[in-house]
Amino acid sequence: MTRLEVSNVHTYYGTSHILFDVSLEVNEGESVCLLGRNGAGKTTTLKTIMGLAPAARGTVRFNSADLVRREPYEIARQGIGYVPDERLIFPDLTVRENLEIAVKKGVSTHLEPWTVARIYDLFPVLLPLDARLGGYLSGGEQQMLTIGRTLMGNPSLLLLDEPVEGVAPVVVQELTRRIKELKTLGLTILFAEQNIHFASEISDRAYVIEKGQIRFHGTMQELAANDDVKQKYLMI
Ligand SMILES: Nc1ncnc2c1ncn2[C@@H]1O[C@H](COP(=O)(O)OP(=O)(O)OP(=O)(O)O)[C@@H](O)[C@H]1O
Ligand SMILES: [Mg+2]
Repeated sequence: MTRLEVSNVHTYYGTSHILFDVSLEVNEGESVCLLGRNGAGKTTTLKTIMGLAPAARGTVRFNSADLVRREPYEIARQGIGYVPDERLIFPDLTVRENLEIAVKKGVSTHLEPWTVARIYDLFPVLLPLDARLGGYLSGGEQQMLTIGRTLMGNPSLLLLDEPVEGVAPVVVQELTRRIKELKTLGLTILFAEQNIHFASEISDRAYVIEKGQIRFHGTMQELAANDDVKQKYLMI
């Protein structure tokens, strides 16, 4: 079943035309990556889905409901959780407080609701940091807390913008394991990524974007076998 359906979307920042006729689909329970170089339009695509960079033309549907011209908070309430590329934690609140204030009321989900205890099960490194202020966490710990905060809103679709960018290799491994775990829990995932190796670990299918246009879509195996696409649009 198709959960998210982006069709023929055009997005502008002011008068700059950024996304051109972008279409993509994410099915129930899938993990799909949007791959592309710097400035290709990955973040803009996620922001368009969230209503933060609204589509000027085209449609975005989630569980068949039309999201275009909805406010970001309404879109979140439909069950879409967005983890932006900057880490949005409160430095003066503890880890627990950061999680507790992220609970969203009125989100309907078929998945088991998240609690602080379940977030600590998913990211065990956060448990001993329960009373630590957010501002005193390492980059990797902040990234886990950011994902945890979004999960506390009980999304059924998770949008992740370059979740492992700038974190240490050992944290990349940890996040890879945990994101796979989220998939087994039934979450549907769409994430933006530059690194095809990390993407291959956690995704079923890929879309490749360049200059605001989708240039390829297929399974990870099809992408791995396509040297032309990899050389032209990715840094390989
Ligand atoms: N607020 C903005 N105003 C105008 N142009 C913008 C704005 N944000 C991004 N752009 C431009 O839109 C294009 C797509 O940017 P976007 O951030 O979506 O790319 P990206 O694929 O996420 O890149 P990165 O890997 O650097 O995160 C780029 O040319 C960028 O310069
Ligand atoms: Mg980006």
